[in-house]
Amino acid sequence: MTPKNTTVKNTSPLDGKRLLLIIGGGIAAYKCLDLIRRLREKGMTVRVILTRSGAEFVTPLSISGLSGEKVYTDLFSLTDEVEMGHIRLSREADLILVAPATANMMAKMAAGIADNLATTALLATDKPVMIAPSMNSQMWEHAATRRNLAQLKEDGVHIIPPGSGELACGEEGMGRLAEVDDMIKAIEFFFEPSGALTGKHILITAGPTYEAIDPVRYMANRSSGKQGYAIARALAALGAKVTLVSGPTNLAAPAGLQMIPVESAAEMLAACQNALPADVAICVAAVADWRVSNCAGQKIKKQDGSLPTLQLTENPDILKILSTDKVNRPELVIGFAAETENIAANAQAKLNRKGCDWIMANDVSTTNGPSVMGGDYNKVILFTGQDKDREDWAPGHKDEIAKNLARKIAGFYT
Ligand code: C5P
Repeated sequence: MTPKNTTVKNTSPLDGKRLLLIIGGGIAAYKCLDLIRRLREKGMTVRVILTRSGAEFVTPLSISGLSGEKVYTDLFSLTDEVEMGHIRLSREADLILVAPATANMMAKMAAGIADNLATTALLATDKPVMIAPSMNSQMWEHAATRRNLAQLKEDGVHIIPPGSGELACGEEGMGRLAEVDDMIKAIEFFFEPSGALTGKHILITAGPTYEAIDPVRYMANRSSGKQGYAIARALAALGAKVTLVSGPTNLAAPAGLQMIPVESAAEMLAACQNALPADVAICVAAVADWRVSNCAGQKIKKQDGSLPTLQLTENPDILKILSTDKVNRPELVIGFAAETENIAANAQAKLNRKGCDWIMANDVSTTNGPSVMGGDYNKVILFTGQDKDREDWAPGHKDEIAKNLARKIAGFYT
């Protein structure tokens, strides 16, 4: 078979999706410019309706420059109605987002008022609607806004909650438009094919292992557990039943999954075997290669002029044991290969040696960009078979890499 060597962009759930963005009147409207740019980078088409008050804060020219689309501003513009009626405009989208959603806009939406292009499109649409409110904190807390918010929720409108902090009016409190990152996360979450892994049990190892020298000392490594935890979260978000067997880390246990904390490689193996059967096993943990076979029962005393002798013995290879399990081998076993050189060759050799199905190689050499060990970013190559099939993924945040892998696993089952 001819080896496939593909370079893949990190696929986003937003790729190919269409957003109708309604920009309301608020000083935070400027954030929408960055939002449009970032969404387009993720492959989304963004069409904009700019309200009359929104146009006080951002210009149609800057929006169309970023969106690459005509900006719609006036319901009564004959040309707009001929080229694109408000009904079509509101329906040729997969999602409508109102940002910033002012108190006034929320009130009109809750009451079903349609007195301009934006509110008419909102009333005419058959598509899901999301709002990112932004206003003064008193307005946000006002009983009328509370009522309107409750009504909008009841009507099925998705809410991206405002943040708290210094407001444009100089006051402090709740009411700041959500940050661009948070709006993007909310939109991505909306389009994530939830439930794609429902019914699948996925076992993940993460973090380092601690190998005891005596009751107070141990050998360890620099693994932070971030990549493994991110994968666990991404899989749980797709509906998988996740068992996360984790060595000691500083990370909070992710919600919605079963976490089994362990210290040593031996404990990690026992916890994994206990968790079987599983449909998929992903070994992300940086398991110590050796443990001290003459681990002392009491704290080893320091003695001038003499050094203690530590005898090392090999730890069990959890990935290999799971991959070669005769009774309970998971259908898909995925390993990780942290490499500093000859990444492809070493990863491929590891896949063969360990007997796993896929191996994700990451370059942990510190000369190549920011540190992977302990950092938030990663650059990976996924090997999916014996015949050197490889996918070079674009560098990305560990959360992005995790979501991509979760989607790839979901794809394995479709
Ligand atoms: O042999 P190496 O440590 O380079 O292999 C890395 C892969 O093997 C990772 O997936 C890691 O989680 C797994 N591994 C394991 N048990 C070991 C050593 C490594 O599961 N004792």
